[in-house]
Amino acid sequence: MSSDTDIVFQLDWDSKFEVGHERIDFEHQIFLGLIKKLAESEKSSSSRFERYLIELRKYAEFHFFSEENIMIDCDYPGYIKHKSLHNALFEEFDDHFQRYINKNLQEGEFVAFLYEWFIHHTMIEDLKLSDFVRTHHEH
Ligand SMILES: [Fe+2]
Ligand SMILES: [Fe+2]
Repeated sequence: MSSDTDIVFQLDWDSKFEVGHERIDFEHQIFLGLIKKLAESEKSSSSRFERYLIELRKYAEFHFFSEENIMIDCDYPGYIKHKSLHNALFEEFDDHFQRYINKNLQEGEFVAFLYEWFIHHTMIEDLKLSDFVRTHHEH
């Protein structure tokens, strides 16, 4: 699958996405699965695509809150910054959603935005968190 932004999508879970924290990796598999489901519904009705978008946003709320609790539990020094990145995604998501509803954004562009965000955030910020948990708190 490709888009006009030339991203190579890897929508099936792969070990290269693992950050090494069992719970976070498990939730990321579901998160990526929701992006895949969204991508596959690009050509279906707009109401179905919209419902998958809402499902993904609700899951992001759960997943981010869950990660933030992990940070609180281990006194993660990057908590404030990481949480602000989560909040920034909601703002960007809502902005994209509004543009999609107003027909100023294509389904494929929305999927590309979410995929890029997911990969970038996971491989940088969530990896840092996982490394911290592993080196500071064995469990
Ligand atoms: Fe995450
Ligand atoms: Fe995160």
